[in-house]
Amino acid sequence: MPITMRQVGPCFAAEVEGLDLRKPLTPEDVAAVHDGMDRYAVLVFHDQRITDEEQLAFTRSLGDIEHSIGTSLRPLTDARLPTTFADVSNLDKDHKVFARDDRPRLFGLGNRLWHSDSSFKVVPAKYSLLSARSIPSKGGNTEYADMRAGYDALDEETKAEVEGLVCEHSQIFSRSILGFTEFTEEERERFKPVRQCLVRTHPVTKRRSLYLSSHAGGIVGWPVPEARSFLRDLVEHATQRQFVYAHKWSVGDLVMWDNRQTMHRARPFPANEPRDMRRTTLMGDGPTAEQAAA
Ligand SMILES: [Fe+2]
Repeated sequence: MPITMRQVGPCFAAEVEGLDLRKPLTPEDVAAVHDGMDRYAVLVFHDQRITDEEQLAFTRSLGDIEHSIGTSLRPLTDARLPTTFADVSNLDKDHKVFARDDRPRLFGLGNRLWHSDSSFKVVPAKYSLLSARSIPSKGGNTEYADMRAGYDALDEETKAEVEGLVCEHSQIFSRSILGFTEFTEEERERFKPVRQCLVRTHPVTKRRSLYLSSHAGGIVGWPVPEARSFLRDLVEHATQRQFVYAHKWSVGDLVMWDNRQTMHRARPFPANEPRDMRRTTLMGDGPTAEQAAA
């Protein structure tokens, strides 16, 4: 069965048919998936009831996996999944729903703010692949915003202003927006800011996009309040409804997105219901900006 892609909603998301993610991909399949990602930036695969091993095999067929080590507040000894996964569920290692005041849960609520995965790492993520294993009875959508469309729609003056700017990203910035401000010295060291370009150019299509994220808490050389108000305006601009696709999950869906060209956010759902979402992530090609001297 040939692979087909059908645009859904705004032009940057498409549903893919003709692929069974439980089976190894041919080189032609791999090329078609990458082409689809370059063109759309968000691909939706329905009815893919895959195991962890199948998700890892599919991810590895597209590139190198990014491990999640030291990026959350879950100690490794409490991990439910291996480091080849980012556990974005609300479940502890015994598969029980987190208590409402659980510290890793509250930290994880930062995913409800618009962000790009791993923008707080020197080498940020390329693609994320999120598999829905169980979903709550309502809510819990994931929304995506097209940062290429956001860039294209800037006026010329703002395009000139963002050119060459470098931002500082840290999970400390994104969590502080929600009032989560208590970190140990070890956590502050682990989450210290990294630098990312504000404008990125796609290596294949050469399209430009705004590289925004709630993790961005400063612009190099700018006073902090001025930087944050400017970034907030850019996020508001880039997440207008015409640039957004909202994915309503079904069990078995796998959604893959390009973090270089999109932002996303999770929407609320009942806190007492399990939402088992398992993310694998592909590493980016390298840093987007020169880092500050240590
Ligand atoms: Fe995310």
